[in-house]
Amino acid sequence: MNKRVLITEPVIPSVIQRLENDFTVEVGERGRFNNEQALVEAIPKYHGLLPMLSNPITNKVIAAGKNLEIIANYAVGYNNIDIEAADKHNVAVANTPDVLTDSCAEFTMAILLAVSRRLVEAQEYLLDGQFESWDPMGFLGMELQGQTLGIIGMGRIGTAVARRARAFGMQIQYHNRNRVSTDIENELDARYIESVEELARTSDVITLHCPLTESTRHLIDADILALMSNKAILLNTARGPVVDEAALANALHNGTIGGAALDVFEEEPKVHPKLQNAPNCLLTPHMASASYSTREAIGMMAADAISGILNGKPPSEIPNLIQP
Ligand code: GLV
Ligand code: GLV
Repeated sequence: MNKRVLITEPVIPSVIQRLENDFTVEVGERGRFNNEQALVEAIPKYHGLLPMLSNPITNKVIAAGKNLEIIANYAVGYNNIDIEAADKHNVAVANTPDVLTDSCAEFTMAILLAVSRRLVEAQEYLLDGQFESWDPMGFLGMELQGQTLGIIGMGRIGTAVARRARAFGMQIQYHNRNRVSTDIENELDARYIESVEELARTSDVITLHCPLTESTRHLIDADILALMSNKAILLNTARGPVVDEAALANALHNGTIGGAALDVFEEEPKVHPKLQNAPNCLLTPHMASASYSTREAIGMMAADAISGILNGKPPSEIPNLIQP
């Protein structure tokens, strides 16, 4: 009998086909498995699970997975999975590092430029019929050349953003659990900053690329926002709860900081109502990795981990397994 795999939502067809070569595959309807109970009921008959980052893979779900051998998340972040429960039940967990680095770094530059040059407001103005003649004082924004970019989370994505920002003439400083190698610091002329407070005080733009953990939850709170300059821009393409949304909404409305762009939210898909009408705030629906080639690569990497485990490959030969 073929082993069974559940892909919780439709993904790029070549990914589904790859798993169908070896297994009996079922694909869930969009959104159906964004709830624990639906997962608990479905999970017992599957050997492999390919969930979305919006699916809560809790202890209860994993415990119900009597046949479950592997969970391969369709994401690099895996805060939606109870890693300890998976370890306890002997279920392997995989994520998708590397393959989305360029896509996320490009997207970060896109939203940085959009906010610093006020593109969304400008289009609204034009479509609203307000463009009557060239305006010497219209839409004055921040130039990136010469500004200081503060990166929180200097992993693959943070480093890839730094490389791009250097090409725009930005100075790089970063905060991270560990200092990166001297080679990378030298390449990027990057300054390591020990405290988030100091980074907040001295950056023109702050961009978040850290995972969501207990120590990064609400890392950006009212106190940190108060240290930022009133022209500074905050970017979040990491995970929503790293930012205290209510505090950010207040900071934008009060002019404590100059602008923000958020691709992730504390309680997706909800967006704090005060952010929706905040000045100079760009909001996008968690899409930083959404290039066709990257989404296909994410799927293939998850599919390969599932095939590997279900076909009995030694875990040491599967590079993207998470060590609990
Ligand atoms: C996207 O948010 C990811 O973690 O892959
Ligand atoms: C993820 O790919 C990271 O390390 O930033």
